[in-house]
Amino acid sequence: MKIGILTSGGDCPGINATIRGVGKTAIMHYGMEVMGIHSGFKGILLEDVEPFTERSLSGILNLGGTILGTSREKPFRKQLQADEDGICEQLMKKYHELGLDCVVCIGGNGTMKTANVISRLGMNVVAVPKTIDNDIYGTDLTFGFNTAVNIATEAIDRLHSTASSHKRVMVIEVMGHHAGWIALHAGMAGGGDVILIPELGYDMDRVNEFILNRAAKGKPYSIVVVAEGIKVPECHKPGEFIAKEISRATGIETRETVLGHIQRGGNPSPFDRNLAT
Ligand code: F6P
Repeated sequence: MKIGILTSGGDCPGINATIRGVGKTAIMHYGMEVMGIHSGFKGILLEDVEPFTERSLSGILNLGGTILGTSREKPFRKQLQADEDGICEQLMKKYHELGLDCVVCIGGNGTMKTANVISRLGMNVVAVPKTIDNDIYGTDLTFGFNTAVNIATEAIDRLHSTASSHKRVMVIEVMGHHAGWIALHAGMAGGGDVILIPELGYDMDRVNEFILNRAAKGKPYSIVVVAEGIKVPECHKPGEFIAKEISRATGIETRETVLGHIQRGGNPSPFDRNLAT
């Protein structure tokens, strides 16, 4: 049997551990041939593949990102769904030409959708959910999430000391797309005073009142953790908007930090390495 492995969508810590886990098991325990497919689904069309060996899969367990490269090309999924340019036919042809019996698709929500489409075309598909956002339907936990929470928690810890020294409100915006998992877990672990997540609405007056009450009780600094997916007025960025509102209403000096892609980069945590494997 010959299988292909591809990674698609945003990268996250732990992908290489999965490539290694799948690849080595297939080669060493089942005697399968394993191909790495580069740059997501388009790698099948372009026949951009490399044969994996036990050796080439060594030394990647702790490595961040994906050794196969990835892309977020959504038009490709739309093309697939509409079967524009005979793309379904081309894909099936390449799948057979490459001699593949199965494609292992490692990715997030978008990848899961595309994997569903190509499985309906007749390809054998194993879909492996991954994302720092922890928002994939049917999963309790995705790899990448634990690492992102660790990074965000460390950032909140660091903000605490500068917040208390300056008696400021520090607003930190974390990733999560439309989900608040990272904000909730890192916010709780880091002792955030206010945590705003998209799954629950928020009332700016209550946030400000809470911060003023803390100040009145002798705690002149606060940590506010904001998920990037919360609702804010159009053309505003979540962290920036919340920081401005707090500063305006409370008069307390306020700063914001947007953690961004740092949450996705670097080595996976031991937990994510094991889950990914
Ligand atoms: O899905 C992972 C994620 O990091 C989200 O948390 C974030 O909204 C998005 O990807 C950022 O995407 P990009 O890397 O394309 O900027």
